[in-house]
Amino acid sequence: MLPCASCLPGSLLLWALLLLLLGSASPQDSEEPDSYTECTDGYEWDPDSQHCRDVNECLTIPEACKGEMKCINHYGGYLCLPRSAAVINDLHGEGPPPPVPPAQHPNPCPPGYEPNDQESCVDVDECAQALHDCRPSQDCHNLPGSYQCTCPDGYRKIGPECVDIDECRYRYCQHRCVNLPGSFRCQCEPGFQLGPNNRSCVDVNECDMGAPCEQRCFNSYGTFLCRCHQGYELHRDGFSCSDIDECSYSSYLCQYRCVNEPGRFSCHCPQGYQLLATRLCQDIDECESGAHQCSEAQTCVNFHGGYRCVDTNRCVEPYIQVSENRCLCPASNPLCREQPSSIVHRYMTITSERSVPADVFQIQATSVYPGAYNAFQIRAGNSQGDFYIRQINNVSAMLVLARPVTGPREYVLDLEMVTMNSLMSYRASSVLRLTVFVGAYTF
Ligand SMILES: *[C@@H]1O[C@H](CO)[C@@H](O)[C@H](O)[C@H]1NC(C)=O
Ligand SMILES: *[C@@H]1O[C@H](CO)[C@@H](O)[C@H](O)[C@H]1NC(C)=O
Repeated sequence: MLPCASCLPGSLLLWALLLLLLGSASPQDSEEPDSYTECTDGYEWDPDSQHCRDVNECLTIPEACKGEMKCINHYGGYLCLPRSAAVINDLHGEGPPPPVPPAQHPNPCPPGYEPNDQESCVDVDECAQALHDCRPSQDCHNLPGSYQCTCPDGYRKIGPECVDIDECRYRYCQHRCVNLPGSFRCQCEPGFQLGPNNRSCVDVNECDMGAPCEQRCFNSYGTFLCRCHQGYELHRDGFSCSDIDECSYSSYLCQYRCVNEPGRFSCHCPQGYQLLATRLCQDIDECESGAHQCSEAQTCVNFHGGYRCVDTNRCVEPYIQVSENRCLCPASNPLCREQPSSIVHRYMTITSERSVPADVFQIQATSVYPGAYNAFQIRAGNSQGDFYIRQINNVSAMLVLARPVTGPREYVLDLEMVTMNSLMSYRASSVLRLTVFVGAYTF
């Protein structure tokens, strides 16, 4: 004896199968009654009505359904269903008969149909007439002679109710998934946007979409980076660029003066100097370049940071000029008896703050007499003692700077060479008048 599985809607088929598994509860009619007409399984002969009558197994079989199952009698069989199961009663051939229509108008139509004016049977729309028992979570679908309770898209049946399917459990989304009632939505991490399939996430090129980089923008996977041009640094905000004050980083960038500019810096030199190899300052030799203002009668003398025009004729009475730099006191002139016999003019330039002692000028006797002895001394111009003489040998000596000096400053030193010959009791003096220009700078 089997329930009519094929008569059941799909949702009850499961329970029908369950019954098969529990089928041991079915009674086994082995005895063949011989006194009455034989009925098929689940029916018994009713001698009063002379018809086969459905057996209510739920009443006749002790513990027809076990456990928490409830027993539903069924034509020709019975069902065991969970107590919470909704039982659709008005299926073809199942459950108790439909409500009995008024006696004077018996419904001549099969269950789920009703007669119309033309005396034919038409389908009853149970869904429209609220004759269904679908749960609020279920959709009711009318069928010919019946109806069906189904779950909306995105829901599935758990027990009697339709429950939202959590699609996010199935990893539909590349990044993030948001479950919604009956559906879901994919979301992407910042820096990505949903691809055309609405599930994968593709990188957003923020640089093409107005990323707020002030100077340079680099797109990267999921984000972007701002960079600055050379000479600028990225602000803490990550977007804007500010000029780097290169001059503030090091005082060695420029020999003289560093000038910061947008994105770069430049070195400047004091007047009289020119820039050499971007950072060094080199004295301009105005005498050499012709940038001087000296007259024909003057000689141009270059020094650190400038130049000087000196009269080419520098000889003062009783001296007479014998060459461009040399003045001679003629021995024939009595005024010359106590004077150095010659004065030679020389010029030199040194920078400020030289480390000392520093050899600055070497004096060399031009003519050497046999047996003569030469002595060198600073005769004038060294009042501060900034220089001294170091004699090297009979014929040469070195002028040494003894103290660091700072320019601009000018010394005029008379360096005297006294030549003596004791045998001939000869004594002669000549002077080298050395003008020392000390520049204002250390370069
Ligand atoms: C993606 O979502 C948009 C907006 O919701 C929709 O118009 C489009 O049809 C969806 N595309 C796909 C492939 O599902
Ligand atoms: C240097 O002077 C000495 C005497 O003091 C003398 O003997 C010597 O020959 C001189 N040398 C020269 C190169 O004049």
